[in-house]
Amino acid sequence: MKKLQLLGNITPAQFLRDYWHKKPLLIRQAIPGFKPLLTFEKLAELARQNYVESRLVTQRDGQWDMQHGPLTELPARNEREWTMLVQGVNLYDERADELLRQFRFVPDARLDDLMVSVAGDGGGVGPHFDSYDVFLLQAQGKRRWKISAQQDLSLVEGLPLKILANFEAEEEFVLEPGDMLYLPPHYAHDGVAEGECMTYSIGFRSPSYQELGEAFLQFMADSIDLPGRYADPQLQQPKNPAEIPREMLTTITEELNKVRWDEEDVTIFLGEHLSEPKHNVFFTGPAKPLTVGRFMETAAKKGLKLSSKTLMLYRGKNVFINGESFAVGRADKAVLDVLANERRLSGALLGSATDDVLEALYTWYQDGWIELG
Ligand code: SIN
Ligand code: CO
Repeated sequence: MKKLQLLGNITPAQFLRDYWHKKPLLIRQAIPGFKPLLTFEKLAELARQNYVESRLVTQRDGQWDMQHGPLTELPARNEREWTMLVQGVNLYDERADELLRQFRFVPDARLDDLMVSVAGDGGGVGPHFDSYDVFLLQAQGKRRWKISAQQDLSLVEGLPLKILANFEAEEEFVLEPGDMLYLPPHYAHDGVAEGECMTYSIGFRSPSYQELGEAFLQFMADSIDLPGRYADPQLQQPKNPAEIPREMLTTITEELNKVRWDEEDVTIFLGEHLSEPKHNVFFTGPAKPLTVGRFMETAAKKGLKLSSKTLMLYRGKNVFINGESFAVGRADKAVLDVLANERRLSGALLGSATDDVLEALYTWYQDGWIELG
């Protein structure tokens, strides 16, 4: 397998075997000569939007404060000890999306988003740990990272953000643009800006089993089929009228035990759940959509690509896109798997799609899920 400069000239397989979920990795010049993809002004504009998740963390006289976006006012850039965090930047900038996609040695089902932090000198979010793996790519200026494998993850109580009560740094590095630090989940870290600084966090998602269980039961509610209705032809007069009869309990337990699911149910649930866009993601279709005929002509020439916001996954014959699922035949599967994996489709490949898929593609185009070109 190919070695990746992004991973410090080891292969993704080596990275996954030796570091992923296991230990930190510092990669000097993971992206040589890296320059920020978005200006400060562009990030500040994103943070002003109510559909963008952003936070402003400040420290005054040692007191932590956190404000959630939309952020209408930011500290002056030369002020000390503040950080603005903008989540999901990949959704709004194609180059940020491309950067995130460089991390597809981890499956899309696990990839979350690109968060950008901008900080004034001394700014940071304090010593903390995250529940997810993260790659911290230095984009501009310098940041001093202190990290620790400490087991004591107790937090200071009563603060608006998670701050470790007893952080003791074991290692320390100053990252410069293009340098990157990988941290496994629950690894204590504290990054402090040295001068004006921008850091990009490539984040992953690992849903809790509780979250999955709750969502799965909701999904199952739509698909269970329990015919019949409770009946008690042998009913006896109760000794205590308020007590639920034993008979009733036994019968209903038996009936409810008929709720069953198999891997196919879990596949469809998981695909729909993981491809569901976050609540604050809105798609905008083209202002003047082409007619279906013109769309097909142009797509055959220029090809199609998924919008940065579109989440597309598949498993077996099931294809999932933005929370919807459908089962496809062999020919369509070949086309849609390419679209999901490459996130684009050449005009030539379109030729082998059935009318069903072409119709779906046109709807997705009208809805802003895919784009021409
Ligand atoms: C930051 O970029 O300031 C914070 C990122 C992190 O520590 O997870
Ligand atoms: Co963190």
